[in-house]
Amino acid sequence: MIRMVIKETAHYIPKRVVNNDDLTMYMDTSDEWIKTRTGIENRHIVTSENTSDLAIKVAQTLLIKSNVSAEQISFIIVATMSPDYTTPSVAAQVQGALQASNAFAFDVNAACSGFTYALSIANRMLSKPSQYGIVVGAEVLSKLVDWQDRTTAVLFGDGAGGVLIQGQAEGNQQVLAEDLVTLGEKSNSLKAGYRLNENIFSDKNDTQTGYFEMVGRDIYAFATREVPKSIKRALARANLTVNDIDKFVIHQANGRIIEKLAKELGLAKTLFPTNVAKYGNTSAASIPILLDELVQANEITIGDTIVMVGFGGGLTVGTMIIKY
Ligand code: ACO
Repeated sequence: MIRMVIKETAHYIPKRVVNNDDLTMYMDTSDEWIKTRTGIENRHIVTSENTSDLAIKVAQTLLIKSNVSAEQISFIIVATMSPDYTTPSVAAQVQGALQASNAFAFDVNAACSGFTYALSIANRMLSKPSQYGIVVGAEVLSKLVDWQDRTTAVLFGDGAGGVLIQGQAEGNQQVLAEDLVTLGEKSNSLKAGYRLNENIFSDKNDTQTGYFEMVGRDIYAFATREVPKSIKRALARANLTVNDIDKFVIHQANGRIIEKLAKELGLAKTLFPTNVAKYGNTSAASIPILLDELVQANEITIGDTIVMVGFGGGLTVGTMIIKY
C-alpha cells in the first residue's frame, strides 16, 4: 500500500503584528489577563490579504523548497474554517494560482483539527510512489471575530502553513497511527461563520451573527479531557508509549491547555513546543506553522517520532503519530 512521507514544510504569516496592549484600545482587556489566561502576547492580522493569499504563498514556497513543479502535484487539500468563499474552495484558488493543471483540489473544514484531518485524507489518496500532494492549513480568523467581544477577540490570529507529501512504498512510510474523533453533540460550544438565510420566503426571526461564539470553559474541559485520551488510543495502535515520542506538536489554542496536557500525560513541558505567544490561535494553520518552525530550527529531524494533535470546533480531535 502506498502511503505518505512529508518531503517539505512551509509557513506564511501576515506582516501586521497586533500585541495585547494594542487590543486595549478597542476592548476592556489587559496584557496581564491575556498572558496569564492564554499565554498569548501577539497575533498577526491581515490588512488586505485573504485566506487564499496566505495559502498560495505557502504552496508556492513548498514548490520552490522541494524543487517539485506544479504539474507534478496530484492534489491540493486546504484545511480552513475561514475560506474566502463557499465556492470556489481555497484549494481551487491555490490550484489555479500555481497552474497545477494535473491536481484536483478541495477544502476540508474540521476547524482546529482541520490540518490533521486533511493529512489523514491525503495519506489515503496516494496511489503511486512518485505522486505528490500538497496539504495546507490556512486561516484568516480576524474576519470571524467580533472585535468588540473581548472573550474571543484576544484569542485568534491569521496565518498559514503546509506540507508537500510524496507517496512511498511500505517500509519508509511515516504515519504510524491516527485517531480522529468528533463529538457533534457538543457542537454548540464553539460556533463561527453563521449565515442568515435572507431568502424572500423566510419568516424566521434570526438573530445569530457570523462571529465566533464560544463557551470557553467547555472547550478547555473538552480539550484537557479528550486530547490525552486520543493520544493514548493512537499510541496503543502504534504499539508505542508516551516515552517513545520526541515532540508533541499540539494545536496552539492556549498555553494553559498545552501545559495541562503535558501534566496529564506525565511529561516535561519541553516536549510540547509552543508558538502561541507569537501568533495566538490560528486554528487549522497552527500545527503546520509550528511544524515548519521546528523543522527549520532542527528541533524535529529525520527519525524523530512526533505526535500532532488538532482539537476544536465540531467538537473534533485529530491525532496523528508520524515517524519523521
Ligand atoms: N480580558 C479581560 N477580562 C476578560 C476577558 C479579556 N479578554 N475575557 C473574559 N474576561 C472576563 C470575563 O468577563 C469574566 O469576568 P466576570 O468574572 O466579571 O464575569 C472573567 O474574565 C473570567 O472569564 P472566564 O471566561 O470564566 O475566564 P476563564 O478563566 O475561563 O478563561 C479562556 C477564558 C481563556 C477563554 C478559557 O476558558 C480557555 O482557555 N478556554 C479554551 C478556549 C480555547 O482554547 N478556544 C479555542 C479552542 S477551539 C479553536 O481552536 C477554534
